[in-house]
Amino acid sequence: MAPRALLAGNWKMHGLQSAVGELQKIIAGADGLPKLDLMVCPPATLIAAFAKAARGSRVLIGGQDCHSLPAGAYTGDISAEMLKDAGAAAVIVGHSERRQYHGETDEMVRTKARAAHRAGLLPIICVGETRAERQAGSALMIVRAQLDRSVPDDLTEVVIAYEPVWAIGTGLTPTPSDVAEMHATMREWLGRREAVRLLYGGSVNPANANELLTVANVDGALVGGASLKAEEFLAIAAVYR
Ligand code: 13P
Repeated sequence: MAPRALLAGNWKMHGLQSAVGELQKIIAGADGLPKLDLMVCPPATLIAAFAKAARGSRVLIGGQDCHSLPAGAYTGDISAEMLKDAGAAAVIVGHSERRQYHGETDEMVRTKARAAHRAGLLPIICVGETRAERQAGSALMIVRAQLDRSVPDDLTEVVIAYEPVWAIGTGLTPTPSDVAEMHATMREWLGRREAVRLLYGGSVNPANANELLTVANVDGALVGGASLKAEEFLAIAAVYR
């Protein structure tokens, strides 16, 4: 049986306190979507307010990154325990923007995933090839290597998001058959961890959601830009109605 679908919105560095109105619209829309788990990952400054607004609803709140240690002298960092304390249920780790702009390695991502688990958060681990790697025909190999190094082998409560770097924020997407090939590879890599959800991410919008999210072994999506407006996010979610 396919795992229950998860649609997660990654707001990245977008959103002020006034954005709680958008969340409330998503919460209202969630009632009509019983087959799907919905999640919003706002910037850290909004997690507590969003968690409070979403309490008792079907919408989960997640962080976008965490430190690997529970506490310490790490100016500017936030621990998984702090996210949990603020009301988060999950945290994205290893997003390509963290890997690219903050030099995060697979090993760091794995430690962060363990930290999330330690704090009682669901880790959403991101992997994905660059444009050059796709063009060189090495996408499957690259992603398999990222999985080997970024995903702790003893973790069963984890979500993996395949986000081709070249598809993020570009309007470009892989073909459904490329997504199918990658997700089949990831599913095979997981072996007995059948309940692990595999998300697709990268330029998902209401127009392409049906085509991308109905591919075999795609158990949901991690959505950037199109998750900032409740209307667009819910239009994507409607694939699971
Ligand atoms: P876009 O949906 O804006 O391409 O971003 C995808 C992403 O990076 C989600 O984590």
